[in-house]
Amino acid sequence: MIAIFILISINFFKQILPPGQVYEYIKDSPDSLIILRGVLTVKKRLTQIKWLCELHRQIQGFVVPELDNPFRQESFNCQTILHIAFYLVLMVTGCHTSEENKTNSTDRIKVSTIIRALPTDVESPPGNPPSPAKTALGKLLFYDPLLSGNKDVACVTCHHPESGYAEFLDISIGVNGRGLGSKRKFNQPNTIPFVKRNAQSILNTAFNGIQVSNKYAPDQAPMFWDSRVKSLEQQAIEPIKTLEEMRGTHYTEQDILAEVVERLKGIPEYQQLFRQAFGTENAINSSNIGKAIAAFERTLVTNNSRFDQYMRGDREAISISEKEGLETFKKAGCPNCHNGAMFSDFKPHVLSAPPNKKLSEFDQGIDSTFAFRTPTLRNLRFTAPYMHNGSLPTLKRVLEFYEDISVGKSQHPSVADEELDPLVHELDIKVKDMSSIISFLNTLNDPEFDRTIPEKVPSGLPVGGNIR
Ligand code: HEC
Ligand code: HEC
Repeated sequence: MIAIFILISINFFKQILPPGQVYEYIKDSPDSLIILRGVLTVKKRLTQIKWLCELHRQIQGFVVPELDNPFRQESFNCQTILHIAFYLVLMVTGCHTSEENKTNSTDRIKVSTIIRALPTDVESPPGNPPSPAKTALGKLLFYDPLLSGNKDVACVTCHHPESGYAEFLDISIGVNGRGLGSKRKFNQPNTIPFVKRNAQSILNTAFNGIQVSNKYAPDQAPMFWDSRVKSLEQQAIEPIKTLEEMRGTHYTEQDILAEVVERLKGIPEYQQLFRQAFGTENAINSSNIGKAIAAFERTLVTNNSRFDQYMRGDREAISISEKEGLETFKKAGCPNCHNGAMFSDFKPHVLSAPPNKKLSEFDQGIDSTFAFRTPTLRNLRFTAPYMHNGSLPTLKRVLEFYEDISVGKSQHPSVADEELDPLVHELDIKVKDMSSIISFLNTLNDPEFDRTIPEKVPSGLPVGGNIR
């Protein structure tokens, strides 16, 4: 298991550092700040790390590769010192190499798994710069059931601001449903299946795929529990095409987008809004529908939770017991997967969450391996019930599940004990730690997001579909 320490005293400089941990080297001086992060792959002395960092600093024009996986294992290659530096160094911020004021500089070495505050601003992909007109249009589309085959479901049906743009329901009900959240039911008679997964929150999906260096590529952002779609722009089209989510049975997957585009073209208000948002005539097409919705979704960000405030320097933002909870969370081994600013490595792992009994077939996840993408741990207050199929109702149940799998016992009939992710065995979680971890997780909730609901949508249909 990856052990975690925070800041270490001078004595530690003499110590040998074990491999497998993420190290952070910070050097402050009046004219420069250097932050180097990396995983140690071989046992090293801290003095050697400092030396490597120094070496890196002195090689001007040295291109640091963006390594997206800080936990990747690389073996030691003593032939080239640069090689080691490459793997040690993950990120360089403002690395000045020349006239550095040595006398005033302070060296600190931190050993930590990297969890951090979210960036304070949001990046958009080059092909979809945001504008107020575009986000306003995207918001209306998000609330308008005109986008669904039977005009009964909108995006907001399953991603409502009252529930943090997620849904208090284990698996979603789309077409032919009525009601909101836990009250949502199928109308009778019904032939439409359940959506097989739990609706994720849209909050912070702008940051999906973010690396521990806080870098991310919005046009490559992984979407869904199995990361099968990249970018918010591409994602927004998928639910419209899916039978049980929005399409229904009257249109085929091939026809539905053309139908939706025709419907939008028939409404003068939409014609005008698309023209304003995209600056051209005839701007109504499926690609621009995706772009407008994505631009709206990028405004749904909560990057000022108490945890973020704490990480940005407000030491009082979280209580003593929550700080203890943070340490317990790290000691338990959770950040092996839940790391970076989103508390997700955005990678697949086999955990064996129990099946949902409402579904007749097991959801086999990514490439039929029963792996699912690590979800964010932000705003868990809104994402209950938990896991890809909502099979665990509370955080306490999630932690009890981790306790069970940490001893190597699969909780899914189709997942053999040996198939569990190796990092699961690194977990060290006891009943007495659970409430402490939960108190820390609560610091990741941030209630400050746009909860305003449009009074009407241009189609004149009920806002949000059949949700009342
Ligand atoms: C019937 C309920 C339902 C509707 C309607 C719906 N979604 Fe979802 N949404 C879900 C479910 C369930 C998932 C997870 C699906 C999966 O992983 O396969 C999801 C996942 C997502 C994600 C991925 C989040 C992440 O972190 O990966 C985004 C973004 C999203 N939906 C946006 C939308 C948009 C935009 C619309 C409207 C065009 C929409 N949804 C309509 C239920 C719904
Ligand atoms: C091996 C990687 C890994 C480790 C270690 C790990 N998790 Fe997870 N976590 C995941 C994955 C993957 C999922 C989604 C699994 C699924 O849906 O089947 C998940 C789901 C969750 C969820 C549900 C979130 C939601 O919105 O549904 C919570 C809460 C959670 N983990 C907390 C923790 C805590 C606390 C720890 C430490 C005790 C931990 N995790 C350790 C990978 C991991």
